[in-house]
Amino acid sequence: MIAIACDHTAVELKKEIEALLDEMNLPYRDFGTDSTASVDYPVFAERAARAVASGECEKGIVLCGTGLGVSLAANKVRGIRCALCGDCFTAEMSRQHNNANMLAMGARVIGPELAKRIARIFLTTDFAGGRHARRVDMIMALEEGKTLQ
Ligand code: RB5
Repeated sequence: MIAIACDHTAVELKKEIEALLDEMNLPYRDFGTDSTASVDYPVFAERAARAVASGECEKGIVLCGTGLGVSLAANKVRGIRCALCGDCFTAEMSRQHNNANMLAMGARVIGPELAKRIARIFLTTDFAGGRHARRVDMIMALEEGKTLQ
């Protein structure tokens, strides 16, 4: 199950990404928003992020104008590694090296075709593990308030 959410700037892009999820036969849960009426993006990012953090959803995709607001908000939820991506290479690395469990994109920054390509890469690329696992563990230790070294 994929969690998906957006603010008012990204409703159209969310529909495009949902069409991709349908095409990929990936079930999703849509946490809104569904209209272009102005909303506060942290509310929607939080809903998707909590669904991923709880294990209800395996991964999440959050969308706003720049992708920044939703990524910042999602990353405040314990257990979330949300990658803001505007290119395919970063999307691939976000999975291989960072084991990102959420993807953020900006509907005012990239077009729907690039966004769908990025989402497909994010959803189909595995974590490489090895030395990258140690580094991801270090990120999560920071979340626990630990000091590295
Ligand atoms: C909404 O105007 C805009 O601030 C939001 O979509 C997002 O870009 C915030 O980071």
